[in-house]
Amino acid sequence: MSQKINIAIDGHSSCGKGTLAKYLAKELGYLFIDSGAMYRAVTLYILNEGLSLEEVNEDPAVLGNIKIHFEFDPEKHFYETYLNGVNVEKEVRGMRVSKFVSPVSTLKVVRDFLVSQQQDIGKDKGVVMDGRDIGTTVFPDADLKIFMTASPEIRAKRRYEELGKKGVHVQYQEVLHNIRERDHIDSTRAESPLAKAKDAITLDNSSMTKDEQARLSLSWAKGVIQSLTIQ
Ligand code: DC
Repeated sequence: MSQKINIAIDGHSSCGKGTLAKYLAKELGYLFIDSGAMYRAVTLYILNEGLSLEEVNEDPAVLGNIKIHFEFDPEKHFYETYLNGVNVEKEVRGMRVSKFVSPVSTLKVVRDFLVSQQQDIGKDKGVVMDGRDIGTTVFPDADLKIFMTASPEIRAKRRYEELGKKGVHVQYQEVLHNIRERDHIDSTRAESPLAKAKDAITLDNSSMTKDEQARLSLSWAKGVIQSLTIQ
């Protein structure tokens, strides 16, 4: 039987980490975990309870009331996020959560709370997890680490076109500004900043198609699995 591995996918926002992680999980029959959705679910809980960041910091026990899980919808071929038993997939992607998730994810108490759950999910291997600190903090021993990036201009162009297709009209310059700002916040925060793990492979997809990066990454994963299986 082939050896199961954990795959850590980190990188900048709007790089296609989720798309690649889902693809690899499907091809390998692994579990896909969107760690960003976990930060979003905690943010939704804090907003719904009307808690301030100071209150959460002073009394991290409130986080004990939060139960997050994912359920796979075979029709949509999509993992949906549940908060305390309620499907919150739509709410966690909305602007109300998006605006507040960055400050929430800078809190050490929140990171400690989620990282321990993420490590627990990965303890039996067979997980593809995407985020910002997976290769550095969550799974420092992951057998395959991919660090995705692309130029801010290319990411902004892709995001701009994607929003346009959804009928959301924004200025390209506004999207580019938002991407640069998020890069800055993610890379400079004190707790687990976005950083490439020393042993991660960089995947700059500025001039690659989705298919090319998918095929390349799957070949890396299969190579690692094979090398561990025959050892
Ligand atoms: O990947 P995303 O945009 O859904 O992530 C939402 C936010 O959570 C984003 O501001 C960065 C943060 N995040 C994080 O700090 N660590 C992770 N492992 C994943 C996401």
